[in-house]
Amino acid sequence: MEKEKLEQLLNDMSLQEKIDQMLQLRGNFYQMDVNAVLTGPAAQLGIGEKDVDMAGSILGTYGAEALKKIQKNYMEKQPHHIPMLFMMDVIHGMKTIFPMPLAMGATFEPKLAGRCAETAAKEAACSGLHVTFSPMVDLVRDARWGRVMESTGEDPYLNSRMAQAQVKGFQGEDMGEEGKVCACIKHFAGYGAAVAGRDYNGAELTERTFRQYYLPAYRAGVEAGVGMVMTSFNTVNDIPASTNKWLMRDILREEMGFEGVLISDYAAISETVAHGYSADKRAAARGAVEAGVDIDMMSSCYSENLAELVRAGEIDEKLIDECVWRILELKNKLGLFENPYKDADPEKENKLILCDEHRALAREAAAKSCVLLKNEGILPLDRKKRIAFAGPYTNCKEIISSWAVTGDAKDCVSMEEAAREVLEEALTSYCEGSTMLNRDTKLAGFESTNRSQNDQKDTQNEKTEESLLAEAVQAAREADIVVMPLGESFLQSGEAKSRAMIDIPDVQMQLFRKVAEVNPNIVVVLFTGRPLDLREISEKAKAVLVAWLPGTEGGHGVMDVLTGKVNPSGRLPMSFPYCVGQCPVYYNEFSTGRPWHEGSKGLFTSRYLDVPNKPLYSFGYGLSYTTFAISPVVLDRTEMGAEEAVTAKVTVKNTGAMPGTEVIQLYIRDVAASVVRPVRELKGFEKVELMPGEEREVSFRIDDEMLSFIRADGTVGSEPGLFRVWIGNCSDTENGAEFVRK
Ligand code: GLC
Repeated sequence: MEKEKLEQLLNDMSLQEKIDQMLQLRGNFYQMDVNAVLTGPAAQLGIGEKDVDMAGSILGTYGAEALKKIQKNYMEKQPHHIPMLFMMDVIHGMKTIFPMPLAMGATFEPKLAGRCAETAAKEAACSGLHVTFSPMVDLVRDARWGRVMESTGEDPYLNSRMAQAQVKGFQGEDMGEEGKVCACIKHFAGYGAAVAGRDYNGAELTERTFRQYYLPAYRAGVEAGVGMVMTSFNTVNDIPASTNKWLMRDILREEMGFEGVLISDYAAISETVAHGYSADKRAAARGAVEAGVDIDMMSSCYSENLAELVRAGEIDEKLIDECVWRILELKNKLGLFENPYKDADPEKENKLILCDEHRALAREAAAKSCVLLKNEGILPLDRKKRIAFAGPYTNCKEIISSWAVTGDAKDCVSMEEAAREVLEEALTSYCEGSTMLNRDTKLAGFESTNRSQNDQKDTQNEKTEESLLAEAVQAAREADIVVMPLGESFLQSGEAKSRAMIDIPDVQMQLFRKVAEVNPNIVVVLFTGRPLDLREISEKAKAVLVAWLPGTEGGHGVMDVLTGKVNPSGRLPMSFPYCVGQCPVYYNEFSTGRPWHEGSKGLFTSRYLDVPNKPLYSFGYGLSYTTFAISPVVLDRTEMGAEEAVTAKVTVKNTGAMPGTEVIQLYIRDVAASVVRPVRELKGFEKVELMPGEEREVSFRIDDEMLSFIRADGTVGSEPGLFRVWIGNCSDTENGAEFVRK
């Protein structure tokens, strides 16, 4: 629709009609008996039939038929026939589920992340959806926080590259095109800094840390043209994000230039009352609309109070017009005025969803996201050996995350199913070995999976646990190698799933110990939504492969790595702590005035008495089945001016017997500056695929922008002085050189 017509439409709308566009309800309101809705959830929210009829958007419902029906009914009632927006959490896949986002971060392959987003968009669009609440780009440093699973990790540069790729993947160049949806960067901002890793907790950050680490990926998403941003649940500078004018108007709108739709997180506007910020829902409505939040997701703050606030002269109707204009613009960008059903097409849905091409991409991504942490010559598996699979993930299909809400575990390929396709029947055995969780663990939602019956049996199944264990130990005795698919349940990570301990469930560790007593040749395959405490496993197992929650084709992807069909190339996007006491732990920390280094003798240094400073496995770490030699760093100059650049290069050689991929990483340190700077920061990376014996030069151009930071006076730029540069295959690399910025 031409802009003039759209402007005319806005002018013709009544105040109430405008406010209706700013309300978002759950889609199931439109699929239940209307009286049940009105006396149930609608009444709880404090909204009436008119609000339900006229809400401008819905979330959480998908399916071409269902959404076409809802749209048709809505358009018939809507006085100006404004189409409804359909939104959904398509976080890492629609029906074809890709590896969870933290696993995608481990690929260090933004292009792959983009391809997966593009495929998810195709499945989402033909299912009738217009907007996905993805990518989540919150920087994460604390493994106790359950939502690290949804992030691409602890580094602002990696997160920015991933954010850009995913926004482009979802939206393409024109989100109105077939197979495209509007993306939504979330959660703005600083949600990953929840104090103590406890979800929904406040974020205590200096403004510099906030800007230097937490904001870059949001900015990257905005610069990539994202159509929507979602507010976060946390406070920033002690003001809830959804009513934080500084955050939303000064930073998001002014500094970053975001012109799209700003939606609140679920009931986040009304929750500013619980935060102790808004005195009541009326104040919450005023605070949020003044901050420029366009859509109130699942609260009645706007629908109950905005009209009265305008009539009382407490807010100018212009604020409402601003919000509604952005909402109408988004609907227009999606082409909904011309075609309110966009791509909704049941036939295409059946053809596209889980098609071979999409599964093949999911399999590729699952293999590439695996991170090999340890391998004492036991991988790839020798297929002539007797191999026992023993662990609760052996035949578990719950390998999609708790946010894969549109996916179905039944579509997943388990480890066992994939193994049976490639390993000798006579040489392999499969058993569960233990339940997923200790029996006394009560997990919300766990009853929803068929596994919960096994895992939450009552005592009369004590024997069952004993027999599970006995069966596994016996299988281990008879095998040459024991592959142990272990880890935390998919329901132990995600929203509202913070954990104070980051251990593998005791019942699984008991299995691991008993097996280790009879067979030392153990390969642990770790399914997890977060970094876990792997000290004992790392010590006793011969190999450890992190599979994360690898998605629909997880079993195939992991078996492709275990059998050597795919040489692992994943690298950790987030540090694995030595133990939970180190959290939050991250590579780009400050030095302190008393830095502790390996071998430091001083007592009075920044360290723990009882554990090391370093994480068990560092950011950027991961092994391959082959070996690589990386030459010393060569700089084309050792001095550079503001307008100049230094080229740093290495030669990488595959010195092993298998083709493989190395992730070459560039780190830089500003040794002395007007504010302390991290001991090193990732500034570039490149994946290099090499045949045995092949070598290649990898070079990085270091320019002034790369050296820029928020200086003591608050301006952004570089400063003269000494810089150290490292190029290697992990954030611990000592392969370095120095140059001076004049
Ligand atoms: C949730 C999440 C957010 C999600 C939204 C809609 O509370 O915080 O990530 O997109 O609600 O489901």
